[in-house]
Amino acid sequence: MNFRIYAALAVGLFSAVSANAAGDAAKGSTIANQVCLACHGADGNSPIPMYPKLAGQHPEYIAKQLKEFKSGDRKNAVMAGMVITLTPEDMDNLGAYYGSQAAKGGTAKSNGKGSVGEKIYKAGILGLGVPACASCHGPAGAGVPVQFPRLAGQHADYTVAQLQTFRSGERANDAAKMMRMIASKLTDQDMAAVADYIQGLR
Ligand code: HEC
Ligand code: HEC
Repeated sequence: MNFRIYAALAVGLFSAVSANAAGDAAKGSTIANQVCLACHGADGNSPIPMYPKLAGQHPEYIAKQLKEFKSGDRKNAVMAGMVITLTPEDMDNLGAYYGSQAAKGGTAKSNGKGSVGEKIYKAGILGLGVPACASCHGPAGAGVPVQFPRLAGQHADYTVAQLQTFRSGERANDAAKMMRMIASKLTDQDMAAVADYIQGLR
């Protein structure tokens, strides 16, 4: 499978998401500081490894996740409770707010330059048909709006947890099964290595 062609196809699938009106960051800030800060931090730089950083994430991706927590297309008990009262407009506003916050970088524990994690991220795993993460998420993890989320600096614990739920199929909100197919070919060790590398990307 040629993943560049694949990625191009995915752009079409996501056109409905990109058609969203831009949100109002100031309105998003009010909700974020009342409801979300306990877990995600006031500016979206969550200090707790199990809660994802949202700062600098693409607004459309954030709004998509919130809509899917509400519809049940992405299943998570905690977040399902958080989105009950949010309207689609609130979700766009929250996306605009977090997307406009500066992302604070992290550091890799052991997967820096020359590591297994770097190799998987930049080149994939050839024999297994695992594509380079960089081919969709960008060489520095900045992602490609609107379809491919930013990964740079994300907590490794959260990244591993997501890769595991893609592998088990518990998370199934990835268009064209892109992440489920990839995660199904990764071992726990691969996931830990690439997640550690991602944590250090800036
Ligand atoms: C009690 C803690 C808690 C609170 C409060 C909370 N969240 Fe979350 N949030 C989580 C957890 C846990 C996850 C990971 C869910 C999963 O594993 O799928 C998450 C995931 C997310 C994601 C997905 C991020 C990604 O990279 O895919 C978004 C977006 C999000 N939260 C936004 C919000 C917003 C907006 C609010 C406030 C309205 C909020 N959260 C309040 C715990 C919380
Ligand atoms: C063919 C394109 C493609 C490739 C290659 C790819 N991804 Fe993804 N990835 C996606 C898409 C699309 C999503 C967003 C799914 C959604 O909309 O919820 C995603 C989401 C993710 C998420 C969830 C982010 C979050 O904040 O919850 C993680 C983690 C992730 N990818 C890691 C990886 C890793 C690690 C690799 C390399 C082993 C990789 N991806 C390779 C397309 C790709």
